[in-house]
Amino acid sequence: MNSEEILAKVEREVQVCTKCDLHFSRKRGVPGEGPANAEIMFIGEGPGFHENEQGRPFVGPAGQFLDELLDQIGMRREQVFIGNVVKCRPPGNRDPHLEELSTCDFYLEQQIQAINPKVIVTLGRYSMGKFIPNAKISEVHGRAMRLKGRLIVPMYHPAAALHQPSLRSVLVSDFARLPALIASAESAPEYEIEPTVEKSDPKQLSMF
Ligand code: URA
Ligand code: SF4
Repeated sequence: MNSEEILAKVEREVQVCTKCDLHFSRKRGVPGEGPANAEIMFIGEGPGFHENEQGRPFVGPAGQFLDELLDQIGMRREQVFIGNVVKCRPPGNRDPHLEELSTCDFYLEQQIQAINPKVIVTLGRYSMGKFIPNAKISEVHGRAMRLKGRLIVPMYHPAAALHQPSLRSVLVSDFARLPALIASAESAPEYEIEPTVEKSDPKQLSMF
């Protein structure tokens, strides 16, 4: 299967998936969307009310802010892949549970392998946790690190800025740095980080 076919298969499977309890609250699954050859992938948390209605990621108020953030750096959402760590809406927008995250990772991993993006921007704690489990978002947001040949850039979740207005300017300035981080990453040396180091002491990660 080529990468388009893998993404299409994931899309179909998510709509009928019953691997975790989140399928009970699903109206529409939200597999994510974007080109199969996207260089940048944004990974949020999970569908909210509007996403569950429409089957598309980031189409509510948080999505509107994400669009503004992309616009500010001259990117359009059609150019990037936008997805989530869980594909079905947690009831009442509660946080996803650990077992839901680990179960749904089955789909996210296939998407990452198929797209093979140069850069993954994590939005919020849950998607950051997939890559840098013990990091504190207040310490690492807006900083880039190389992991398995890929640049990971953790950012606050756009919805957090809607509840906490002081985070708005933080997200704006973190996004503003993204093009420079991406440009410098290409010539930057690559470090392979042992998973044990990654788990036990995130400060040992190569930050730049
Ligand atoms: N918040 C998310 O984390 N993902 C969405 O798709 C929408 C809002
Ligand atoms: Fe399946 Fe993921 Fe939906 Fe759970 S959240 S039912 S694992 S698609």
